[in-house]
Amino acid sequence: MTHEIAVVPGDGIGQEVIPAAIEVLETLDVDFEFIEAEAGDRVKAETGEALPQETYDLAASTDATLFGAAGETAADVILPLREAVDSFVNVRPATAFPGVEAVRPETDLVFLRENTEGVYSGREDRLTEDVSTLTRVVTESASRRLAEYACEFVTEHGHDGFTVVHKANVMRETDGLFRDTVTEVADERGVETDEVLMDAFATQVCLDPGQFDVVVCPNLAGDVLSDLAAGLVGGLGLLPSANVGPDRALFEPVHGTAPDIAGEGVANPAAKIISAAMMLEYFGYDEEGTAVREAVEAVLAEGPRTPDLGGDASTADVTSAVVERL
Ligand code: NAI
Ligand code: MG
Repeated sequence: MTHEIAVVPGDGIGQEVIPAAIEVLETLDVDFEFIEAEAGDRVKAETGEALPQETYDLAASTDATLFGAAGETAADVILPLREAVDSFVNVRPATAFPGVEAVRPETDLVFLRENTEGVYSGREDRLTEDVSTLTRVVTESASRRLAEYACEFVTEHGHDGFTVVHKANVMRETDGLFRDTVTEVADERGVETDEVLMDAFATQVCLDPGQFDVVVCPNLAGDVLSDLAAGLVGGLGLLPSANVGPDRALFEPVHGTAPDIAGEGVANPAAKIISAAMMLEYFGYDEEGTAVREAVEAVLAEGPRTPDLGGDASTADVTSAVVERL
């Protein structure tokens, strides 16, 4: 079966790491049809729109989207694109790589972050010159959908259970509903859970990340805590992510457009290539996904390496080394 893939490089190093990922995917025996589309600062300067309707429609109709990064217009691009795939969960692994310097090399976490509501539901008001407000929306249905995904995820990937991170002691209604729904779904399915308050989690994950494995959390907490965990494994440059919906998904590196190095051909393609491995696994190509991960890990450990990891190799050198290992 051919999978149709929307390819949206965007701006800056998005234009450099996307071709690297495509080159890796094209060495595999999988049937992908890539359809390229535009988004970001450059297309906004040309047409006035950061996310052309054609690009939105493409992401909403293809089987998956590979996204690079967008610059100033990132929020105008990525939030609607996540909506186009109806993404209800943001999957963010934070795993240290052997041989790559990390604050906490033992870190091996996966965040499953609610991706549609909480304080990011866009319900903000400016009531008076002095007063602004935000409505935090948490629904049972979104919490349930996330929990069902989390249960499938831990079962499929052989984890013992998951940790629910929340602040239900203060946000009793919203995070109370979140915690109760998530733990109830897990109980129904015989999946083990424990709970940690999100502020305590921030400290504990820094001191001893090894005590956590899969972490399920509301939108803002997941955004902040997964970036914190990214710091523990050596920064944002190596981390992939997936935005999963019921029928399609969007895969992106966690990093942005890296304007300081864009155009120089030295961007580290690892995050984007591992995002492509997540896409392979999403389609059930587990063997190919593992092969890509192992090839990237080997290249990160043994080189060649791009300058962000202390080497002097180019994006193309690293990509060729990954392809060679495959
Ligand atoms: P950034 O991730 O683009 O860069 C932060 C630092 O990490 C820079 O020094 C950069 O050179 C380095 N870096 C990032 N990825 C790298 C890679 N693959 N290889 C080597 N070095 C890498 O974040 P920053 O500087 O905060 O944002 C730059 C622009 O990107 C902004 O316009 C921002 O809006 C946008 N952005 C877009 C995102 C998206 O489209 N999802 C996400 C984050 C930022
Ligand atoms: Mg973030």
